[in-house]
Amino acid sequence: MPLWEKLLEILQLNYPQKISFVELIEKSAHSQEQVQHTLQQLLQQGFPIRISGNQLSLSFPLLSKRAISQKIKTHHLAKKITLFDSIDSTNTYVKEHLATIKHGEVFLAYEQLKGKGRLGRAWSSPVGKSISMTLVLKPESQIQNASLITQLTAASVVKALEQTVDTKIKWPNDVLINNKKIAGILTEAAFSGGTLQGIIIGMGVNTNLEKEDFPDELLNKATSIRKETQMSIDPNQFLRAFFTQFEALYDDFIANNEPKTFLTTCRTHSALIGKNMWLIDGKKQRKVFIRTIDSAGGLVVQDLKTGQDETITSTHYSIRGEHSYV
Ligand code: BTN
Repeated sequence: MPLWEKLLEILQLNYPQKISFVELIEKSAHSQEQVQHTLQQLLQQGFPIRISGNQLSLSFPLLSKRAISQKIKTHHLAKKITLFDSIDSTNTYVKEHLATIKHGEVFLAYEQLKGKGRLGRAWSSPVGKSISMTLVLKPESQIQNASLITQLTAASVVKALEQTVDTKIKWPNDVLINNKKIAGILTEAAFSGGTLQGIIIGMGVNTNLEKEDFPDELLNKATSIRKETQMSIDPNQFLRAFFTQFEALYDDFIANNEPKTFLTTCRTHSALIGKNMWLIDGKKQRKVFIRTIDSAGGLVVQDLKTGQDETITSTHYSIRGEHSYV
């Protein structure tokens, strides 16, 4: 394990207590100079490390492979975790290395420099304040469509946060608190000669971002769990709960070839059902009433001009509220 990761892990395992510089050096088993140099780099990168006198602590909890693995209850997911300090995009990395990656492997980053969102948008993940995660699935049989896996992921986020805060899903891939986005999901299926090589599930969760981390134009659309709950969120605890929920829903889906369980959560926690919304397709937009999510995961809408019902299955649409985000 590189020294930067070791130092962050020691600080994380000690959170919220302080640790003395001397103890940190001892625990890291490196020289004073090496520790000092690496700490300086971490501070420059923007990690939330507080120093008072010769004591150090984290301002809020950070990702740690050990903290996730130690108490995780899954059987086949997140058994191997890779954590990057900084990377372009965990999804891009996984795509480039898919052949050597096994089912259930997880890739995390403290910071992404070129995070990708849906519809070619950028996804910002400031250092240590959000979760940038990619999970790889290599199912033995074909999966009907990637959008179902997106909805399974969204349902797992809702369930993982159930004890902490009420969340809603903006079909198919956004998770909201108080009508603002806290998490986005980007699922990509990789094929080679018609055969599925793997499903790449990218998820960004705004855990501990503060008001000043959001550009003004996003303040009425995006938020963080910390901003909405006034609590520091432990990303490791969240991920343990998330992987446990995901595995249960995924195993059930694969065993029964039936998305009913997670689609029920998507329906009961929908931020859209029963509302009039704008359905946006590139430059065209029309007003629709959102009826429900059907048994295959499609969004059933009524066109308010024609009165006709239709089912939206493609995820290249954007959906916006009449006057606000939802
Ligand atoms: C969206 O809401 O448009 C989807 C956002 C997905 C962001 C995550 S962060 C981890 C993974 N790596 C990426 O580059 N994107 C996904």
